[in-house]
Amino acid sequence: MRGIVLLCMLHAAFGMEGYGWVDPSSTSDTASNPCYLDQQSCGCCVMQKQLNKMEQYFNFSYEGMHHVLTESKMALNNFRESRSAFSVALNSNATMLCFGPFHDDKRIPFKHVFINLGDSYSTDTSIFTAPRSGVYSLAVTIYSNIDSPINPIAACANLIVNGHAVAVLPEDKGNDPEDSSTVVVAVELKAGDQVVVLLPAGCVICDNLSHFNTFTGFLLHTTDS
Ligand SMILES: *[C@@H]1O[C@H](CO)[C@@H](O)[C@H](O)[C@H]1NC(C)=O
Ligand SMILES: *[C@@H]1O[C@H](CO)[C@@H](O)[C@H](O)[C@H]1NC(C)=O
Ligand SMILES: *[C@@H]1O[C@H](CO)[C@@H](O)[C@H](O)[C@H]1NC(C)=O
Repeated sequence: MRGIVLLCMLHAAFGMEGYGWVDPSSTSDTASNPCYLDQQSCGCCVMQKQLNKMEQYFNFSYEGMHHVLTESKMALNNFRESRSAFSVALNSNATMLCFGPFHDDKRIPFKHVFINLGDSYSTDTSIFTAPRSGVYSLAVTIYSNIDSPINPIAACANLIVNGHAVAVLPEDKGNDPEDSSTVVVAVELKAGDQVVVLLPAGCVICDNLSHFNTFTGFLLHTTDS
């Protein structure tokens, strides 16, 4: 009897297919059927068979969950890597400093960085380079508190994508010299597209610690896979 139990355990331990046990009713060879010889060990093997089935089922479920988890992790990493957001202001000086007016168009040098996630905005060149193809939200706000001797529309700027103006910010001079203008657009950019804000000839903008002039952009969603 011990030999049979051991045999049964060995079968289970090595995970062999079929345990050599057959349905007692399906065979007439009672002498060679251990189930007839030892009912206890037969019960043990049936249990072992059930355990094995359960383990297989568990393994299957585990593999399925592992697969889903791996895919989710990859999607999350992809999402993390594609994060892109920048927000910059003209300066952060205690005293009001103006940029312009000039006789030709100049790129506005936004120097004070609030956030530059992904380092896609360069404070050296004042250019935002789209890190990935996608839909981006872009916003520009300008401000001036002085009159321009060259241009009656003092506070003005152009939002430029790849050399083309997608939005202009003109501010007609009112009764006081304080002027401000804002534009917010959603645009589709390709990876490598360049966005800058130009100060047209004659315009002037001024800023201090209050950050009246800001340039902000962030990726809403990617369009590559
Ligand atoms: C379940 O997975 C473990 C570990 O991968 C393996 O050793 C075992 O043989 C598997 N069991 C079945 C019944 O497939
Ligand atoms: C404005 O601030 C920057 C750094 O915050 C500094 O380098 C620059 O000299 C300041 N400009 C003036 C005119 O104070
Ligand atoms: C910035 O300048 C404006 C206009 O001169 C002034 O009202 C404001 O208090 C200044 N901001 C700071 C933080 O000093």
